[in-house]
Amino acid sequence: MRLLVTGGAGFIGSNFVHQTVRERPDVHVTVLDALTYAGDERSLDPVDGKVVLAKGDIADPDLVDTLVKDVDLVVHFAAESHNDNSLHDPWPFVRTNVIGTYQLLEAVRRHDVRFHHISTDEVYGDLELDDPARFTPDTPYNPSSPYSSTKASSDLLVRAWARSFGVRATISNCSNNYGPFQHVEKFIPRQITNVIDGVRPKLYGTGENVRDWIHVEDHNSAVWSIIEKGRLGETYLIGADGEVDNTTVVETILELMGQGADAYDRVNDRPGHDLRYAIDATKLRTELGWEPRYRDFRDGLAATIEWYRTHESWWRPQKDATEARYAVLGR
Ligand code: NAD
Ligand code: DAU
Repeated sequence: MRLLVTGGAGFIGSNFVHQTVRERPDVHVTVLDALTYAGDERSLDPVDGKVVLAKGDIADPDLVDTLVKDVDLVVHFAAESHNDNSLHDPWPFVRTNVIGTYQLLEAVRRHDVRFHHISTDEVYGDLELDDPARFTPDTPYNPSSPYSSTKASSDLLVRAWARSFGVRATISNCSNNYGPFQHVEKFIPRQITNVIDGVRPKLYGTGENVRDWIHVEDHNSAVWSIIEKGRLGETYLIGADGEVDNTTVVETILELMGQGADAYDRVNDRPGHDLRYAIDATKLRTELGWEPRYRDFRDGLAATIEWYRTHESWWRPQKDATEARYAVLGR
């Protein structure tokens, strides 16, 4: 199988490429990645010589056409992915997430290539803390931020191209990922690397916000289940029953890193901050038989802390610029 992975030098995409090379030697992988601030060629070092990297933009129709016409499957991870950045400057989100997805859809349509679209649970908006409901594929779209609204837009394009043009597509909407190779702008790596630097973790607002954490390896094994067994035109929600509030995440990181559980600072809240996400992955589990492997968040967090401790040369070049961006926001 010839596979094109967009965004394969980012966090989840690079882990997907590692997993694919490790477990599926019959798959020939090409990565298309613009290597924005969030992409890092070094994230592909573990598969050096085993994949091809095409540096370029998913919004470039000629480049996209050239790459798509030679593959059997596109798995589309490339995106602007950080909510805080989208509140500061939404345009790159519209350009990459909406126009970039459009260009890919037109190319897979022309060449009749199977397409899997990676999306987020944030398209469904948020839930109250005490709401017994969780997101299902039938939950109405209600995105809050520029980031999540562009991801919702891209999902709707995929649905329309599947229905109107017969594009062979599936969509997955996953909850918050953690694990190795995640950019230090994101919550968990930011706090781990702060503690390594002797800086107190930063908790937005009250810290009561809940995210539904899943290890990146589990997200990616679910994506392969959908590629292999999912029904065309369908949406699958990916989650591993990992709801934890932000205060507990910070306290656990501090404890695992030998600090006092209260050694963190509360900082300005994110405007429009979604309160809670929660995934009901029944369809994925019952229809496709998928199960997560990382069931203990604390163990997964300890392994992630160890990864950041032993890979300082990977994250260090990004740390100062990231914190400088947060300083402007008072966060
Ligand atoms: P990331 O920011 O770490 O990586 C994004 C990658 O896309 C980078 O390598 C970047 O260089 C590349 N990219 C950006 N714009 C591009 C463009 N115009 N052309 C080509 N490449 C471009 O993001 P991530 O956290 O790995 O997320 C990957 C996907 O998964 C995104 O679609 C995101 O919406 C989705 N997702 C993320 C999470 C999460 O918790 N991180 C959860 C659910 C879904
Ligand atoms: O739910 C899936 C989404 O998860 C993905 O679609 C996004 O691409 C991904 O970035 C993530 O979005 P969040 O906004 O939930 O992730 P983030 O890591 O930015 O923040 C997680 C929570 O932690 C959120 O409630 C905000 C809070 N936070 C974040 C940072 C960076 C803090 O309290 N302090 C911080 O320093």
